[in-house]
This record gives sequence, structure tokens and C-alpha cells, in this order.
Amino acid sequence: MGQGEERRWPPGPRGHRLTGNTRAYEADRIGFLRRSHREYGDVFSYDEHTLFVIDPELAHEALIRTGDTFVTELAPFDMRRDTNRAAEHATSWMPERRSAWPGLNRTAAATTDERTVAILDAVITDGAGQDVDVLTTMRTLTARTIAEYCFGADHAGVAELLHETVRATQAFAEASREFPAWLPLPRHRRYFRTYRRLTATLTGLVRERRASPSGRSRDDLLGFLLAGEPAPSVDTVVSTLHSVLLGGHGVPAAALTSLVWELARRPRLVHDLRDEADGAQAGGTPLADAVVRETLRLYPPAWLMTRTAATATTLGAWSLGPGDDVLLNPYLIHRDPRWWPRPDEFDPTRWLAGQAAPGPAYLPFGAGPRVCLGATLTMRQLTLTTSWLARRFTVESPNAESVTLEFVDRLAPAHLRARFLPVESARRNSG
Ligand code: HEM
Repeated sequence: MGQGEERRWPPGPRGHRLTGNTRAYEADRIGFLRRSHREYGDVFSYDEHTLFVIDPELAHEALIRTGDTFVTELAPFDMRRDTNRAAEHATSWMPERRSAWPGLNRTAAATTDERTVAILDAVITDGAGQDVDVLTTMRTLTARTIAEYCFGADHAGVAELLHETVRATQAFAEASREFPAWLPLPRHRRYFRTYRRLTATLTGLVRERRASPSGRSRDDLLGFLLAGEPAPSVDTVVSTLHSVLLGGHGVPAAALTSLVWELARRPRLVHDLRDEADGAQAGGTPLADAVVRETLRLYPPAWLMTRTAATATTLGAWSLGPGDDVLLNPYLIHRDPRWWPRPDEFDPTRWLAGQAAPGPAYLPFGAGPRVCLGATLTMRQLTLTTSWLARRFTVESPNAESVTLEFVDRLAPAHLRARFLPVESARRNSG
């Protein structure tokens, strides 16, 4: 923005004189955003440094310009807007990201089916018939899956630490107001303690493996990273594993919980999925794939993504200053009738017969240089899980009709409970 030029900032709800929009947003996050979208359009302001973007093209633009004029990670839970530190972190992350990618691509993902099924058996089959909290069960599942993907059988303790990290971050995720990290709040101490324990455990595992003669040839992500040329430092490997473990745990668990919510309410669909899985040959499982895509459309776990302007810049018609936040909302984009017919309806058939997503209006994995690193792996694992569940179980839920979506850190139905009934015993009961 040149000198003397007026700052172009979108309109938005004015909110309370002292507390702005915080209260209205906290009372009903998605209701507030829907109302503001209706009233002010695809880009609206929340306060004088934060705007929301519901326009798919502009959301993509912000994602694609990440690393250039926008940054993604600021110091966790810190109000000091250290965009320089974030930019430095991003610069060091990009080579790490590139080195990890082949360890997570299609070929690597294709080797994980057997392990995924063994973990499903251990977590779901062993608890079959019991009434469980679905999100907790799915977190157990995804923590084991990603820990094994990274470390093979030596993941002792990592899955439990991932659980603890999610619990420690929960308090922050539920509060939209952040507090400086130096405030000695119990929740800050707990978070940093857990973070240090996870880092220490990962460092121990990496060092141990590096010292072992066969460490580099092991068939897991750690073996792959250690075999890189030139040999990466321990810190680099730890930081890559940290990102993969944290990205690969809570988010897919939220997606699986939404998936189970749909399965519990749609016995007919489970039946069709079972037929498909029973007869699955080389043609794969297109219905299971469509069910996963549709679940991620209606319930994108990363329902809100943040970007911060690193320098003075523009986005569409609007001027941003350094430190201004842009909040992108896949949830509302995925439910916009301009891009999706019958947007609130769960209809996997919209993905069948080669129908593609309407371009930028589908972004469950983000886009641009920081697009999800685990997208290929997770699509494969979620699709396999969908077929596996439908083939072996009937899903019953005592509260599927009454639970509602919770728009906190990750979008998922709150407190969903379910029982996975083995198909054979369900058949016996109905016969
Ligand atoms: C349903 C499953 C998943 C969904 C919906 C999902 C979604 C996303 C999204 C939206 C982002 C970008 C966030 C942003 O730009 O602000 C992201 C980043 C990331 N995801 Fe995923 N993710 C999933 C599973 C996974 C899995 C299984 C892994 C690990 C294998 C993973 C690893 C990562 C990593 C490392 C990043 C950070 C990439 C970077 O900043 O360069 N994700 N994910």
C-alpha cells in the first residue's frame, strides 16, 4: 500500500464496544460465521486485524502465497506476532518437507495396508460390542497407526505421548483468546512439559536407531529419513517426525469420527459398502473412496486455517498489514450452494462416475506449498478403514441422532458413542 493510500478493509459485524465479536463468536462459532457471511459477503472483517475468507479463489490464493507473503506458524499460544521467526521456521521446514515426501507418497502408502488392518483388528475387533466414545477410540487407532508408520514396531510410548499432547492442547483449542506463552498458567506448563517429553522420546528413538547398523534399512519413515543423502542431523529428523506425528493423529481421528457418525445413521450405505468390499477386485472400492471424500467435504476436520501477512500486501480488493490474520473457512466453502448442489446433504454418489470436485471449492487438505503432507497416505487408510468396518461390523449408536458438531480445534461430532457389532452376531440377532 503506497503512502497516503487508503487502507481497504472489508466490512463486518461491529460487535460489542469493549469485547468486539468475541462473545458472539464464542457463543456459536459457525452460526456467527454463517450470519456474517450472509450479511457481508465472501470476505468480512472480524476485528481490525483479522478477516475471514469464504471465497474459494481467494482462499486458494492465500494458501498458494504461503511462504511468500503469508506465513503459517507463529509461536504456539503466543500473542507476540513474531512473523520473522515464523518465516525462518518456514524456510528451514521446506527442505525437510521435500525429504519426507517420498516416504509418504503413493508407493509408500501402498505398503501400509497390512499394518493398518492389524491395528484395526487390535483396536476395533478387540473392543467389539462395547459402547465406546468414538473420538477416543479413533485417536487410539490413529496414534498407533502413525506411530507405527514412523517407527515400525519400536514405537513404545509414542502413541501414549500423542494422546497426552492432544489433551494438553485441548484447553487452548477451546479458547479463541490466546495468552502469552510466558504466563505461568497451569495449562501452559502442562503443554510445554508434554512437548518436551515428546521431543526427548523422539530424540532418544532417532539416536538409538542411528547407532544401530541396520537402522537405515528399516521399512518405516524413520529408516527412510535416516537413509537420506546427505545424512540429516538428529534435530532435523526429530522435527520432521514431530510434524508428521502431530499432523497424522488428531485430524484423521476427527475425520473417522464423522465417518462413523454417517455409517451409524445409514445402514443401507453400510450394506452397499459391504457388498462392494466383498466383491472388491482390481476395480478397487470406488464407493468407499466416495464416502471418504464426502465425509471430508461435509466435515472438514481442519475447518479453519490461518495465514498471517508477513509484509504489507493485498488479497483481492483488500489491503493487509504485517501481522494481519486471514482465516480461511473450508467448512462454509464446502457447503456453499454456488459450488455444491444440495450442499448439506451427505451424498457420496456425487463423487462417483468420474465427477470431480468443483476446483478450488474442495480443500480438506489445504493447498499450495503447505498442502497436507499425509493426504495420499490418509486417503488410502481412510478408504481401507471404511471398507473394513462395513465388511465386518454393523455400527449402532445410542446418540447419533442427538449429537452436534463441535467447532473447536478439529471439527468432529461431540461425544459420539457407538458399538461395533460383528456382522455375524448382528445377523444372528436379527434372524
Ligand atoms: C483426514 C485426514 C487429514 C486431513 C483432513 C488433513 C488436513 C490437513 C490440512 C488442511 C493441512 C494444511 C493446514 C494449513 O495449511 O494450515 C495439513 C497439513 C499437514 N498434514 Fe494433514 N491431514 C490429514 C491427515 C494427515 C496425516 C495422516 C498426516 C501424516 C502422515 C498428515 C500430515 C500433515 C503435515 C506434516 C502437515 C503440515 C504440512 C506443512 O505445513 O508443510 N496429515 N493437513
